[in-house]
Amino acid sequence: MSTSELNIVILAAGKGTRMYSSLPKVLHEIGGMSMLKRVIHTAESLHPDNISVVIGHGKECVREKICANVNWVEQTEQLGTGHAVKMALPHLANQGRTLVLYGDVPLIDQQTLLDLLSVADDDVGLLTDVLDNPTGYGRIIRQDGNVVAIVEEKDATDKEKLINEINTGIFVLPNHKLINWLNALQNDNAQQEYYLTDVIALAQQDQIPVHPLQVRASYLAAGVNNKAQLAQLERILQQQQATALLAAGVTLRDPARFDLRGKIRHGQDVIIDINVVLEGHIELGDNVTIGANCVIKNVIIGSGTTILPFSHLENCSIGSHAKIGPFARLRPQSQIGDEVHIGNFVEVKNTTMGTGSKANHLTYLGDTSIGKHSNIGAGTVTCNYDGVNKHRTQIGNEVRIGSGNMLVAPLTIGDRATTGAGSTITRDCPPDQLTVARSRQKTVSDWIRPEKTKTKK
Ligand code: UD1
Ligand code: MG
Repeated sequence: MSTSELNIVILAAGKGTRMYSSLPKVLHEIGGMSMLKRVIHTAESLHPDNISVVIGHGKECVREKICANVNWVEQTEQLGTGHAVKMALPHLANQGRTLVLYGDVPLIDQQTLLDLLSVADDDVGLLTDVLDNPTGYGRIIRQDGNVVAIVEEKDATDKEKLINEINTGIFVLPNHKLINWLNALQNDNAQQEYYLTDVIALAQQDQIPVHPLQVRASYLAAGVNNKAQLAQLERILQQQQATALLAAGVTLRDPARFDLRGKIRHGQDVIIDINVVLEGHIELGDNVTIGANCVIKNVIIGSGTTILPFSHLENCSIGSHAKIGPFARLRPQSQIGDEVHIGNFVEVKNTTMGTGSKANHLTYLGDTSIGKHSNIGAGTVTCNYDGVNKHRTQIGNEVRIGSGNMLVAPLTIGDRATTGAGSTITRDCPPDQLTVARSRQKTVSDWIRPEKTKTKK
């Protein structure tokens, strides 16, 4: 196989009219990553000499959202796929090869491209597919078995339209010929576009062999033009990810009701119940169990920890043998220690909780540091915000905060302190003592309950 220079051009200037979206088409996500980013990643995996991305519609937005080491090439007017590749000419070497990819064909994989490069060698390589319904695609014209041209649907004769071998759009082209071919393209066709596909006929003229490779599964070369196709490819990707996790020993109660929009690292005997959405970077230790309907984003969970149903966790870490939920909400910058229990309707933000501490019911803990083995009573609120600034609440080890406490920060509560239920704590509490901050209850013994006077009519 050729080891010469490899340039990659990704076409992404099209409008994506049928997405009916203000977001440029290639920025729509599959598996939590934009289609274009996915294609760039796959392109990078081939270690090319450079990658050029041709952008047009929504170009500012695309450049802003995609951080990658590529040449951004502008195509001001979308005059066709051949014209688009021509825009990238300044970045193509005189020797070596150019691989053309589409920004809206997100599931193309490294193996397919390596196979195509290998089949193409120093000639032309063309990724094809055979479809039951080839409508809309460029048809592969063969003579004596050899590929001699590609005819677009709109230019095809009725007989040519019967051909179901199609062009996926992915090409490998020899650079020393490509410059001439691109300059020779004409737009005298039904769409008045400069078709990249016409290079096949030009290769034929120059006696450069064209080597077709049929893609091993249609989804790999499937393009996205509308939301239905986006959803179809999303399902295929999710199914593949689920299959890989099952193969690696993760229990998915229902692989069809599991979504991973990012990357996961996991230990042994992980169990994930239905309708769990994992996003970003996820790490699950051994024996982690995730209950139904949890949404978990950028979270590290230690071994033996159980997340009970309907919990929402984001940008935080949880130690081992902890118990979170049901209906818990862990917000960013929270560090939850080993054996911590966080129960229903508890919201935790920018808070650390030491080993064995508990907040089991109806509580808000914001900007709080809690030591080890402390218990936060039901209905407690850290009042962390004075309307302008956030303040911290420091709670020591083995503290018992009574139910229904308002902890008005900034505040420090010493080790082994106890606070009475219903207290509004505004000043620091000393260690080892009981602090109660509520008005004393009294009973009025000679009080007479008012009665309605019954007047007869
Ligand atoms: C193209 C192929 C067709 C193939 C089909 C596969 C040509 C002439 N036709 O047709 O043989 O079967 O893809 O899906 O190549 N683009 C630009 N600039 C342009 C035009 C297009 O960047 O001026 C980009 C689009 O954003 C898209 C890709 O190129 O990512 C393909 O363009 P599209 O208009 O979808 O081509 P098709 O007509 O579908
Ligand atoms: Mg298309």
